[in-house]
Amino acid sequence: MRSSPRSRLSALLAGAVTVGALLTATATPAQAADTPLRDLGTAKGKVIGTAVTGSKLTGTYGDLAGTQFSSLTPGNAMKWGSVEPTRGTFNWTEADQIVDFAEAHNQQVRGHTLVWHNQNPNWLTNGTWTPAQLSTLLQNHIDTEVGRYKGRIAAWDVVNEPFNEDGTYRPTLWYNGLGVDYIANALRWARAADPDAKLYINDYNVEGVNAKSNALYNLVSSLKQRGVPIDGVGLQAHLILGQVPSSFQQNIQRFADLGLDVAITELDIRMNLPSDAGKLAQQKADYKAVTAACVAVARCVNLTVWGFTDSDSWVESTFPGEGAATPYDANFQPKPAYYGISEALGGTSNPPTGACRATYTVTSQWNTGFTGNVVISCSGAALSSWRATWTFGAGQAVTQAWNAVCTQSGAAVSCANASYNGTVPDGGSVSFGFNGSWSGGNPVPVVTVT
Ligand code: G3I
Repeated sequence: MRSSPRSRLSALLAGAVTVGALLTATATPAQAADTPLRDLGTAKGKVIGTAVTGSKLTGTYGDLAGTQFSSLTPGNAMKWGSVEPTRGTFNWTEADQIVDFAEAHNQQVRGHTLVWHNQNPNWLTNGTWTPAQLSTLLQNHIDTEVGRYKGRIAAWDVVNEPFNEDGTYRPTLWYNGLGVDYIANALRWARAADPDAKLYINDYNVEGVNAKSNALYNLVSSLKQRGVPIDGVGLQAHLILGQVPSSFQQNIQRFADLGLDVAITELDIRMNLPSDAGKLAQQKADYKAVTAACVAVARCVNLTVWGFTDSDSWVESTFPGEGAATPYDANFQPKPAYYGISEALGGTSNPPTGACRATYTVTSQWNTGFTGNVVISCSGAALSSWRATWTFGAGQAVTQAWNAVCTQSGAAVSCANASYNGTVPDGGSVSFGFNGSWSGGNPVPVVTVT
């Protein structure tokens, strides 16, 4: 079927068919009709990103990562301990996977991170090095990693978390061994390895004006004055519910006024568990305030969340009793926080109180074919006719449908109700099925109901 003309019309077959029992994947993208955050961001000149785990980039996680975001940051995959666990032995598997996924979904990649005091390989942290050896190790690491992805990384977090809370330099392997010049040298080496990548210094607790952000401000001012390559600062924004700094926008603006880009690189807003409606409403207001601060400053170029779903967040394992820090819940349903971001970007203001949504299920699959089922259900809303649309992500094709009239053009599928099943009452549902062809992969698409 894949070699047939771009436009296909599948048969409408009335009546039920028996489908296999194998349930391989299900997607229930709530509020699927909302304009994706990445498109809202584009309209405002902002790149909207998320940290991701490479092994999870399939199914609903992959669909949402690919459709909602225009930038990916590997949460762990590009850290030194991940890419060179044994000296001279490299593992690029997850990093490559994320970069490939991003390119396939027309997304940027933020490289994270080259010089840090955490998640370094044991052979490095346990070694005894002269300053010259340490410098050579660092330069080689930057050459190797930046060089490998040359031309494919929009921005690198070159130096991560160089400051203490009081604005003094953190006494790390790098600072203790090489002095403060490790920062300038790392930036120079990164620029040499990929002249097109934007180079950032990234830190946490620097979102408001305070001693630590003052130190960052003084550092990047001095680097710029000295002609050291520095393009931007990353404000991580690991925040606590109700504690968005009031000087957030002012702080972004002062870095922008230095001629630097600013990125919100690791946004999450944690709360004491369990969550409740009041906390989620506060979290929505907090996400909206952070997003609005970025929207208000032209040089705030990227807003990235540190994991988009509560099932893929560092918070719960790090802060016992806290969590629910991301815009989607663990079942991939958008939380009020999602709408806080959306609203600040000019999109949907609130989760609709009533909605009709689609659940797409692969009910059976064999070597080249599969059977799919889509259930359209309404709660607090109703339909007198309907159309379900989706875009296949891996070259799949609908070959036959029942209880709907389906057409496919390229990867885009559109299925309208049959003459007898256009009505979906409030609290009710209808379903239709189809057979399709696949090869290589059969990821579940995000289905929109109109
Ligand atoms: O991969 C191993 C796995 O094999 C093992 O079974 C498991 C047992 O604990 O650990 C796994 O490694 C964990 C790794 O994440 C991958 O999941 C580490 O223990 C865990 O410490 C590590 O945490 C990461 C943390 O950085 C380390 O500092 C988080 O995922 C990551 O989100 C977090 O990201 C940092 C940014 O890079 C910098 N800014 C702060 C941010 C949050 O800490």
